[in-house]
Amino acid sequence: MLAKPKKIGNVEIKNRFVRSATYEGMATEKGEITDNLINFYKTLSEGGCGLIITSYAFVQQNGRAQNKQIAVYHDSFIPGLRKIADTVHKNGEGCKTALQIVHAGRQSHHVKETIAPSAIMEGFMNIIPKEMSRDDIEETVEAFAQAARRTKEAGFDAVQLHGAHGYLISEFLSPYTNKRTDEYGGNTDNRIRFVENICKKSRELVGDDFPILIKMNCDDFLEGGITLEESKKITKLLSDIGFDAIEISSCMWETVKRKKKDIGWRPTFIPESRMAIGSVNEAAYHLPYAREIKKEIDIPLILVGGINSIDLVEEILENGDADFVSFSRPLIREPNLPNRWIKGIGSALVECEYCNNCVLTLAKEGLHCTKKEES
Ligand SMILES: Cc1cc2nc3c(=O)[nH]c(=O)nc-3n(C[C@H](O)[C@H](O)[C@H](O)COP(=O)(O)O)c2cc1C
Repeated sequence: MLAKPKKIGNVEIKNRFVRSATYEGMATEKGEITDNLINFYKTLSEGGCGLIITSYAFVQQNGRAQNKQIAVYHDSFIPGLRKIADTVHKNGEGCKTALQIVHAGRQSHHVKETIAPSAIMEGFMNIIPKEMSRDDIEETVEAFAQAARRTKEAGFDAVQLHGAHGYLISEFLSPYTNKRTDEYGGNTDNRIRFVENICKKSRELVGDDFPILIKMNCDDFLEGGITLEESKKITKLLSDIGFDAIEISSCMWETVKRKKKDIGWRPTFIPESRMAIGSVNEAAYHLPYAREIKKEIDIPLILVGGINSIDLVEEILENGDADFVSFSRPLIREPNLPNRWIKGIGSALVECEYCNNCVLTLAKEGLHCTKKEES
């Protein structure tokens, strides 16, 4: 099943193996593409993924999440971005690539003032964001749509909105962070309006044949936040609005502060990337959510999070619990993992130990697996 092609929108993906968006910390301070990034994507595309989703690129300067993060907020970034798309197409034997685009909202770093749907204290950095005015909202919707246009102009095959992990779109979707009383807050229909407007505006600029994907939380793991019941409703609405595929993930930064006893698993400093898969935490930890959400939508579902063996992949795909399986940390360790599994070489398990050292060393050294170097 892993080697079977499947379409997202009108774009054929050569197999079911997706590289989930992973911040590399390899762009310039301004957000431009470097030779390191190009080499990184060359290696990744040679490894056999069907679809490579890039790290999150920021659509507005006040929505930057990290240092050395890829920028897409201006047309001047298009030539650099094109180098990534060209590299993947040249080296990936039919591999497709999507740019992930983000506004980090109240989780923005390196900005003077953070913005969010509501002025509620962000419990990880303890900063109170500014509540967005209607003008701010329209400006940001436009910034996302322009970023989607740039993505297409740069030669990517698709764009993915980052609507998960407590960033701006996720903040609008979640009742935990969205306490607005206007048409952007309150019931589910109102809370999806922001992302609905982004999707519609983007569609006007990129046309019907350019897939627009979204990554979103199936559970915020925060009291008063999104739970499965609500994410089922949201995914159905998003699939009706015109998104071409949904990738499900979970958590906001604040989820880090929750204790094991509250939620039945142990959050780490990057809670969407649970550690010690197979010992402390369960493999394919969003799978129970996928099974439920799959019933609601008629567009492809991409499953990410702790998928650690080819047997599990085949089971997920055979059972129809997801259409694509998506990987972040295993590919940092083994960029060749898709080819290895498809050709049946070596272990059925990933080499990745899910230790999250890659996250700790990222800011200083750029993305790499420290354990691989030790072994
Ligand atoms: C170093 C690192 C950087 C990440 N950067 C992003 C990102 O830019 N965008 C995103 O949506 N998720 C990001 N994630 C989350 C991953 O895409 C993925 O959802 C999560 O790690 C679970 O998948 P895995 O168990 O295969 O690693 C990142 C995770 C790691 C470890």
